[in-house]
Amino acid sequence: MGEVDPAFIQEPEHRPKISYIEGKGVPLIDLSPILSSNNVSAIEFEGLVKEVGDACKEWGFFQVINHGVPLEKREKIDGASRKFFAQSLEEKRKVRRNEKKVTGYYDTEHTKNVRDWKEVFDFAVEGPTIVPASHEPDDKEVIELNNQWPEYPPELRETCQDYGQEMVKLAYKLLELIALSLDLPADRFHGFFKEQTSFIRLNHYPPCPTPELALGVGRHKDAGALTILAQDDVGGLEVKQKTDGEWVRVKPTPDAYIINVGDIIQVWSNDTYESVEHRVIVNSERERYSYPFFLLPPLSTMVEPLEELTNKKNPAKYRAYNWGEFISNRSQSNFQKQKVENLQISDLKISE
Ligand code: OGA
Ligand code: NI
Repeated sequence: MGEVDPAFIQEPEHRPKISYIEGKGVPLIDLSPILSSNNVSAIEFEGLVKEVGDACKEWGFFQVINHGVPLEKREKIDGASRKFFAQSLEEKRKVRRNEKKVTGYYDTEHTKNVRDWKEVFDFAVEGPTIVPASHEPDDKEVIELNNQWPEYPPELRETCQDYGQEMVKLAYKLLELIALSLDLPADRFHGFFKEQTSFIRLNHYPPCPTPELALGVGRHKDAGALTILAQDDVGGLEVKQKTDGEWVRVKPTPDAYIINVGDIIQVWSNDTYESVEHRVIVNSERERYSYPFFLLPPLSTMVEPLEELTNKKNPAKYRAYNWGEFISNRSQSNFQKQKVENLQISDLKISE
């Protein structure tokens, strides 16, 4: 490739710095106290809850180790994903995502109207997925969608489904810790996910000839409840540090997962925890793979600050919104450049 397609080029103020800060960065939390229920002292458990709460408040991001997800399952999905992406574009496009089929392969995603330097394969963890039939806000019609699975590699489907179940299990454990850290009953959030639209994305970031101009994923906040990300040893994820707005690189830690609070938890917690901006830097030498799991409620969910966390002195900061409408509005901007920035939860804030 000679000239880089201008669609990938970021505005100067959003271009990455080539030198970066890794610093102490995002907290690393050891989840072993919840792995085995025996032999955990109340003090140890409370310490863990506090660590999670502090990380959510100060960073919106943390890494976990001793999380209980077997390494072999992670290696398997990684192996299958590498085989899938190594195929020709023509093969991959046989399972291409489009406006009727929301899962599958995609290589022209945009974040904030600039094209991302990546290709992805999405699958829903609990199928079939129900999605709105159109992007018209008044159109209440929905269609049911099944995942699209490629022929090759043949093990991809089972590997992905299996890994998906592990992510759901870990998500519930994390939700419990987050609920407790907000002084809520441990299972306070569980009911929201009896059915879910959660999905996993296989991300492949090829080497980029102009890493100083483009981004693997442009700056954004995750719209869902919680994200659980596996990244490889290349690194490139940057988080906007809350204290000073600097971009901080998340250091790859073998077998760790990176957790971040999404917009829905921000709204449920009435801003006690905030969904933090992040982005992905690419490089000219090494390709990178990452696998986020996005924990998402059913489309019919109305998202609003939890009653227990609001009162006269601390009134709800957001009006209730419908998750399905929100995400359908948002997903339009993934398909084409829009004239305006996409919908954000800040647009739903109640003015003081
Ligand atoms: C995302 C994301 C980070 C990464 O897909 O929302 O932030 O490291 N990905 O791939
Ligand atoms: Ni993200």
